Amino acid sequence: MPTLVSPHAEAPLAGGPPSPLAPPGPDAPSKRREFLRMLGLGAGAATLGPLLGACGSGNAQTTSEALRAQLLRDEAFWTSVQNMFVLNPRKTFMNIGTAGSMPALALDLFAEENRKKAAESGNGYSNLLDLRQKVAPSFGVDASELAFSANTSSGMCHAILGLDWQRGDVVVTTNHEHGGGDTPLAIAVDRFGIEVSRIAMPVGNNQTAATYVNLFDERVRALKAQGKRVRAMMWSSPTYKTGTMLPIAELMGVVKTHGLISIVDGAHLPGMMDYHYGNLGMDFMSGAGHKWQCGPGSTGILIMRNRIRSSNPLPLPKWYPVHTSTYRAVDRSIVPPESYDIAASVTSCGSVHTPMFMALAKACEMWDSIGRKKIETYDLTLASYLKEKIAERWGVDALYSPKDDPKLLSALTSFNPFPNKTDVMNAQKATAFVARMQSDYPQGFIVRSADFPVIGAASNHYAIRVSTHLWHDARDIDLLVDAMWDLSRKV
Ligand SMILES: Cc1ncc(COP(=O)(O)O)c(C=O)c1O
Repeated sequence: MPTLVSPHAEAPLAGGPPSPLAPPGPDAPSKRREFLRMLGLGAGAATLGPLLGACGSGNAQTTSEALRAQLLRDEAFWTSVQNMFVLNPRKTFMNIGTAGSMPALALDLFAEENRKKAAESGNGYSNLLDLRQKVAPSFGVDASELAFSANTSSGMCHAILGLDWQRGDVVVTTNHEHGGGDTPLAIAVDRFGIEVSRIAMPVGNNQTAATYVNLFDERVRALKAQGKRVRAMMWSSPTYKTGTMLPIAELMGVVKTHGLISIVDGAHLPGMMDYHYGNLGMDFMSGAGHKWQCGPGSTGILIMRNRIRSSNPLPLPKWYPVHTSTYRAVDRSIVPPESYDIAASVTSCGSVHTPMFMALAKACEMWDSIGRKKIETYDLTLASYLKEKIAERWGVDALYSPKDDPKLLSALTSFNPFPNKTDVMNAQKATAFVARMQSDYPQGFIVRSADFPVIGAASNHYAIRVSTHLWHDARDIDLLVDAMWDLSRKV
């Protein structure tokens, strides 16, 4: 495999063994672009271009043009990155929020290690310390704070069901959470008698990081004033519904003011955002290995605070492993954290399939080589470009995702594509829209819909949600927006 060097990359991409899936060099066109060219669609907006004129406005062109120029600045480099994946070129995969795709490097290693394991009849009785030591620095924690879980949902179960809840404890969360976090919370309600207080989430561009600080702080204070014992805050960063990045650093301020346990459903964070979890200081962050980080299915990353740092000087919460074959009774208020590998207790549960986690570590290594900050910037720029184009065509009010406060940005974009605004409450129309984005356009766009309550609305809204990641480019967004505009006039 050739070594990729971008003028803007933090480090060159690491080399690897030659592979039949090895990508062409940096100047090679992307496989999808080649495929579309074969169909006579390579010039991008040619077939849908005239629709652009029909949408009017043009006022926000400066912002979107600047974003587009930024995306194209390093085009050859990103084309090389796109070519490191084996994605079907007949489709444009824009639902990474549900599932990523392993790069060839990780697939090759996975295949090789599977074969080795089978040849040697290998077992998986391990807490994978060597792999955790390799991966943990990329997430700003040490190995005893990074556990490999089965996925986000499994990490949320480990975190929530391991805490020493007392009857009457209150968890403050939102009404836009995923079942991955809500399910263990519901079990804790029935099993331990905890209570859940939900904040109604704002949607759209008219919100800032301060909105969330105020919402959580006011709710905690109001509950305390009623004599309630607030024990924890749990929230998604970002939510899977609107892609709103609840601002972790700011919410940790509320957590520390009130002395709470902090649990972040960060399903979309690994591989999308370059976060340093030691500096953020939450007690738990459960992320997926198989979404934006593009590891194998059934892999996840659970960050478990095991140090008192200035980012969070609160005592470490009492927590017990619930799914493990490694248990030692430890009082973390006495035992030095270095001597207790809390993450080993999550990672080690009977015999694990080691090649999966080796492949996840390989994907992490690839991300480090490209530069996690570079990926974050690219993903968010794609999303901002998409949001600007949506605002130009449909109007900014069509967006459920905020676009102007940088602290609230993620690479998930949700919006209402329907000219008749109330059609967004029609589940069938949203389903048809998603299906036809794939079937009616040669690019075969894979997007999804997500439904959620909106303050003041009679029923849930079914937004269209688009994920933008390192295998996309500005042309994909142009084509997508043209197709969505075209389809929105037909559905
Ligand atoms: C916010 C959020 N939490 C949890 C999950 C569940 O993820 P997993 O399949 O990794 O358990 C998802 C999946 O999309 C999600 O978006």
